[in-house]
Amino acid sequence: MTANLAVLVSGRGTNLQAIIDAWEAGELPVNIVGVLSDNPGAKALERASAHGLRTAVLVAASYPDRRAYGEAVVGLLESWGTEIVALAGFMRLLDPVVIRAFPGRILNIHPSLLPAFPGLHAQRQALEYGVRVSGCTVHLVDEGMDTGPIVLQAAVPVLPEDTEETLAARILKEEHRLYPEAIRLLATGRLKVEGRRVIILPER
Ligand code: GRF
Repeated sequence: MTANLAVLVSGRGTNLQAIIDAWEAGELPVNIVGVLSDNPGAKALERASAHGLRTAVLVAASYPDRRAYGEAVVGLLESWGTEIVALAGFMRLLDPVVIRAFPGRILNIHPSLLPAFPGLHAQRQALEYGVRVSGCTVHLVDEGMDTGPIVLQAAVPVLPEDTEETLAARILKEEHRLYPEAIRLLATGRLKVEGRRVIILPER
């Protein structure tokens, strides 16, 4: 059983790279059907091509509104036979039309321990708030901004000498471990949502 996975990106693509590495190592029971970017200059696209993956670019400014953009995204993902979606540094809030096309089958990774510090510059928000611990969260995507049911989290310390960069790097290391693991759980049907909570079913 291998699920067809599409990855959505906007930038440098280190999480995409971690997914590709796990997949190439035979640790991810998925078939990566394509990498979609909203940014034609994303380094993530180069990473995808270097590994022989199909890529596509859909620029939001070319569509009249968020709904039309979402419909284009759904059309493309469906044409690839997509079953599950991973947002890996995709910097846009997806229209509900996309969420409804893949109910409970879209994951996002966010560089904070949600529900703390959603949205942009999560590491800066954590530093400015003065928390002693931060981390990353993989969650199922719902219609809100970083609000969906939590799948996995990893914590890291926030050190007195941290800058946004050093904290981001410490969190990123955990992201690269956590995201392939969460994708594996979704791809193998081991996530069950009960209200806000995600139950991780035992391996069969
Ligand atoms: C990561 O910190 C991720 O948590 C956030 O955006 C960043 C993407 O980095 N959603 P990369 O493009 O995967 O290197």
